[in-house]
Amino acid sequence: MLNRSVYASVGKKENTTGIAKRVAHISVSAIKQMPVLASKVAGCVSLGQGIPSFSTPSFIRESVIEALRHDDTIGKYSLQPGLPELKVEIAKYLQRVKGVTVDPETELFVSCGAMEALAGAIATVIEKGDEVLIPSPNYSSHIEQILFAEGTPVFVPLIEKEGWRLDIDSFRNAVTPRTKAILLCSPMNPTGAVFAEEELRSLAQVAVDLNLFMIADEAYDFLVYDDLPHFSPASIPELKNNLIGCYSFSKMYCMTGWRVGYMYASSRIIDQVLKVHDAFAICAPTISQHAALAALRATNGRDGEGDRFIHHLVASLQSRRNVTCDRLNTLSHIFSYQKPKGAYYVFPQIVVEGLSDMELALKLLYEAKVITIPGSGFGPTGQGHLRLSFGASETDINKAFDRIEEWASRF
Ligand SMILES: Cc1ncc(COP(=O)(O)O)c(C=O)c1O
Repeated sequence: MLNRSVYASVGKKENTTGIAKRVAHISVSAIKQMPVLASKVAGCVSLGQGIPSFSTPSFIRESVIEALRHDDTIGKYSLQPGLPELKVEIAKYLQRVKGVTVDPETELFVSCGAMEALAGAIATVIEKGDEVLIPSPNYSSHIEQILFAEGTPVFVPLIEKEGWRLDIDSFRNAVTPRTKAILLCSPMNPTGAVFAEEELRSLAQVAVDLNLFMIADEAYDFLVYDDLPHFSPASIPELKNNLIGCYSFSKMYCMTGWRVGYMYASSRIIDQVLKVHDAFAICAPTISQHAALAALRATNGRDGEGDRFIHHLVASLQSRRNVTCDRLNTLSHIFSYQKPKGAYYVFPQIVVEGLSDMELALKLLYEAKVITIPGSGFGPTGQGHLRLSFGASETDINKAFDRIEEWASRF
């Protein structure tokens, strides 16, 4: 079994006596473990966790301050599926951006981030022994969520040298009688790949033909570079009964700490997932739902403040992507990489022989004071890679690469 734990590699032991197997055999993802290790190392620069350096924009914060002053319900539970007025704005947004007509009352619920929507989706449709096809590498939390539901992640390698492309035949060949779902995100964490419309349509056809669920993690759907189009599986009408779409406010509005996202699926699925949502969360934080409402009103509304913010965010991150790629070009004796088309990650392969991703990540942490994420946390194909995030400011990105270059000159 692949060692997904950074803690294990630095000798931190777990005591799992009396702990349920479904918890004992999952781990906190390397994405979260590395910053915890790094918190004990003074003066680190981070290319680690995917947190953009920007603050939540003032049009969202001011609106929440106003609501805190005047709305007595803001400190109370909202309706369990979410604030009705927020769900109406979400439906408007999905119509405008993805061309999909959604019934806000029955086909949406507001979650504690995309993460809770994903966990709820998997807990709802996956049971012991069910297989879930996921690209490898893939977002590490998807793996833990499947294992927690006692399902089996079946890793389908992406084609790295073609920009981490989906291999549809491999997906088809990986299907067995136990296959229950396909789970993927585009734009992708950790590779920065953006799957093309024809790839996603072909995969959706596999899901429809074999009656599999397609769980689409679209946390980065707005974040595509070089004016590439983003195609959403939600835009495929024939997929509607198989699709569970999970969306986030975290990345698009720099709201990672507010913990708010949503799910779009057929009403039959939403009814079932709401049972899980009730058992684990009751409702998404009401104050954060107000923030999400302000975000979408500014985006759906005519003055376009939300759109201008998103446009600026994408342009800034594209510039950071370019800086990161320029700096990686000068480290070609250590890394080879595929240029990211979306999200804010690059997933370079380590070309130094005999140096594992875990060793390199720990060396960079302790010897160069740069936080990176070892690739083996993202599935078997992630071995021998590092995930670098370029959500940090250009100053910090350059500082991190200066340190890596200096470290490499001594290595
Ligand atoms: C692919 C992917 N999905 C989901 C999430 C979590 O999103 P949220 O903050 O909305 O829970 C992340 C966070 O980094 C992510 O990278």
